[in-house]
Amino acid sequence: MRATIHLDTQHHAGPVDRRIFGGFLEHLGRAVYGGVYDPGNPLSDERGFRRDVLDALRPLAFSVMRYPGGNFVSAYDWTDGIGPREARPRRPDFAWKSVETNQFGTDEFLAWCRALGAAPMLAVNLGTGTPARAAHLLEYCNLPAGTSWADRRAANGHPEPYGVALWCLGNEMDGPWQAGHAPAEVYGRQARMASALMKGLDPTIQTVACGSSGRGMGSYLEWDRTVLEIAWDTVDFISAHRYSGNWGGDSASYLAEGVEIDRILADYAGLLAYVRGVKKSAKRVYLSFDEWNVWYRARGDDGNWAEAPPLLEEVYNLEDALVCAQYLMAFLRRADLVKVACLAQVVNVIAPVLTRPDGVLLQTIYWPFALIAASARGIALAPAITAPTYTTAHYGEVPALDAAATYDAEAGTLALFLVNRDRAALTVEIAVADAALGAVLHADLLTGEPHAANTWEAPRAVLPSPGRAEVVDGRLRVTAPGTSFMAVRAKVRTAPAGRSAIVSPADAASAPTA
Ligand code: AHR
Repeated sequence: MRATIHLDTQHHAGPVDRRIFGGFLEHLGRAVYGGVYDPGNPLSDERGFRRDVLDALRPLAFSVMRYPGGNFVSAYDWTDGIGPREARPRRPDFAWKSVETNQFGTDEFLAWCRALGAAPMLAVNLGTGTPARAAHLLEYCNLPAGTSWADRRAANGHPEPYGVALWCLGNEMDGPWQAGHAPAEVYGRQARMASALMKGLDPTIQTVACGSSGRGMGSYLEWDRTVLEIAWDTVDFISAHRYSGNWGGDSASYLAEGVEIDRILADYAGLLAYVRGVKKSAKRVYLSFDEWNVWYRARGDDGNWAEAPPLLEEVYNLEDALVCAQYLMAFLRRADLVKVACLAQVVNVIAPVLTRPDGVLLQTIYWPFALIAASARGIALAPAITAPTYTTAHYGEVPALDAAATYDAEAGTLALFLVNRDRAALTVEIAVADAALGAVLHADLLTGEPHAANTWEAPRAVLPSPGRAEVVDGRLRVTAPGTSFMAVRAKVRTAPAGRSAIVSPADAASAPTA
């Protein structure tokens, strides 16, 4: 079976924002305690940070890390987690019915982010919390010493402000499960007030208003429209969340998950253009897809009031990895819209990395993230894909091939990401209209038995291996086996003349008006 991809370096969706390679760490299950933080374990450093976990996460090149929740944040008092550890209170956690010891809090998280090399993305509590308390946290983190909360930070051993740039205004406030869930109008006013207060103290920050917690919500997009109409002038992003699953055991439909992700992105592009138009605003608000992953097996939220109970410890197979690849590929194609995205989550809880006291396990979903984050650079091209289709119960006929590509003018390289959703192998011909390709730098392939998983007993069941890619007459020819993901990078031999402006149709449609 054959497929073709036509690219043109002048036809693109703008620069790849590295913040789409974000992660998410929540006080949930064994994510923090026994995950990233494990004092006394010989594998941990003097701060209690698991060194092997940091080493495992570094190749994922997380640009940002969202914290401390999630549902957890909506009943969290951040002041419980600062100051001398022995004085910190043990609290029942409303969201996950667990006991929170508060031994890991804001200062520990910010130190951990530095150790990882990721920028923090802090969420404030707009459930049981108030805009004023959110502004106190901003003061604690970002203001120079000289006022009460900034002085507390200095007294806690951190004289210099942290300069946290990205802030989430609550979490999933449309969800009835959320502590402090409120109608969109009420939340929208809270978000506007919190954002204005926080930006009043530090105008350099960017804020994210809560959008719908999923496309299945009855108020999907209506919630978002209401919040955006109220808070538009004070926020920079609206959030989207999605968890995918092969609920019915229908792998053909599940592997076409990218169709649904594209649809959600199109929904938000339309909504943001609509609100901007109604408001006759020159401002742009972008999408922060700050929770995405596969999550359908290890559901349930009852920690039985234990400390760090094992919750949401999903085991991932190859199919799940191909779905994760499709999220990142969809974000790349809509680089004009998606500027922040967070894999939910990073350790133990619906995570690419699992821990035991004596080591770590890399799950299948680790690999597409690592391979795409390593190679996606420069501008995100708009691929024109011609491929055979296959039939799904959910979406009807869908293309067997999903693809994204980036072009790095400085390095003179093209990166290509492919998912073959179907079982038959595809020979994919890739042509760049205004450039000829040179040497293939690498071709990494993830494939195998669709339900194969990495386990403690068989940790190397699903690993990348070298794939087949060659350049023929300036074009790339890639063999994509059935049910596979590939990441290929090639040298661009004939550099295109000059650089273009952003020309994606979405951007042109929403260019500033006079
Ligand atoms: O990531 C797990 C949970 O999923 C988060 O706490 C919540 O925001 C979402 O519903």
